[in-house]
Amino acid sequence: MSRIAYVNGRYVPHAYAQVHVEDRGYQFSDGVYEVCEVHDGHLVDETRHMARLSRSLKELRIREPMSVKAFGHVLRETVRRNRVRNGLVYLQVTRGVAKRDHPFPKDDVAPAVVVTARTIDPKKSAKSAESGISVITVPENRWDRVDIKSVSLLPNVLARQAAEDAGASEAWFVDQDGYVTEGSATNAWIVDQDGRLITRPAEFGILRGITRTVVVDLANREGVEIVERPFTAEEARKAREAFVTSATKLVMPVVKIDDAVIGNGKPGSIAGKLRELFYTQAEIAP
Ligand code: PDD
Repeated sequence: MSRIAYVNGRYVPHAYAQVHVEDRGYQFSDGVYEVCEVHDGHLVDETRHMARLSRSLKELRIREPMSVKAFGHVLRETVRRNRVRNGLVYLQVTRGVAKRDHPFPKDDVAPAVVVTARTIDPKKSAKSAESGISVITVPENRWDRVDIKSVSLLPNVLARQAAEDAGASEAWFVDQDGYVTEGSATNAWIVDQDGRLITRPAEFGILRGITRTVVVDLANREGVEIVERPFTAEEARKAREAFVTSATKLVMPVVKIDDAVIGNGKPGSIAGKLRELFYTQAEIAP
């Protein structure tokens, strides 16, 4: 079956899905994106993803290209046309096409919108979660507006490649004071020796992950004590459990950080429980 992409109002075969050479996303990474999980044919946490998209657009002063309702339609149609039951839908909005010049275009340029969807085998992710993943730590070298979900991801790409080169699955950024900020495409969590969940506050220095928000709510609901405070890489290496969260990885146990084995080297029980209960807390769209 051939894949279909939505590009600026049209559904086109993936192989012919193109944007202009002077799209500001292409030239300046002047754009934002969202990744929403598709579970059993339903969008997961669509409302929160759309709210974060609006916020990102507002922060960059890119105009909303269409209403939330229209976006909902395009997301569903792209999922439907690609016959995705489990996987993800990717949505990108850039400032649009204009002669290359750093300031915003003077004319009222239409933002460019791209939506793609693809299937991911849930068994693969379940298998990773059974064994747990390894992470490495890398120096934080990103700008300080990582709260905006911008397509400007070069440091994240380099960090993730460093992880691959080291035989690991994710890289955690560590700031100058030794604190873990977040992963290249995930939020970072540990469980301390007293069984408390610890994750960095989302006010500054990280992306406020939608999965993170759901897991905070879930932990509160289940009576798991949670402390939102920064933690160091050293603390993480001595933690009882560690895990990462994202729309594509859900709650993914971490069993190794650099050379340190976490806990007994097997996925922790709290991470397992949060993963198991995730969909009882997430918003599953009709
Ligand atoms: N990444 N931090 C960063 C830097 C991210 O890129 C992501 C998501 C997250 C987790 O956010 P959420 O729970 O809303 O997915 C945290 C997506 C999945 C990506 O870039 O593919």
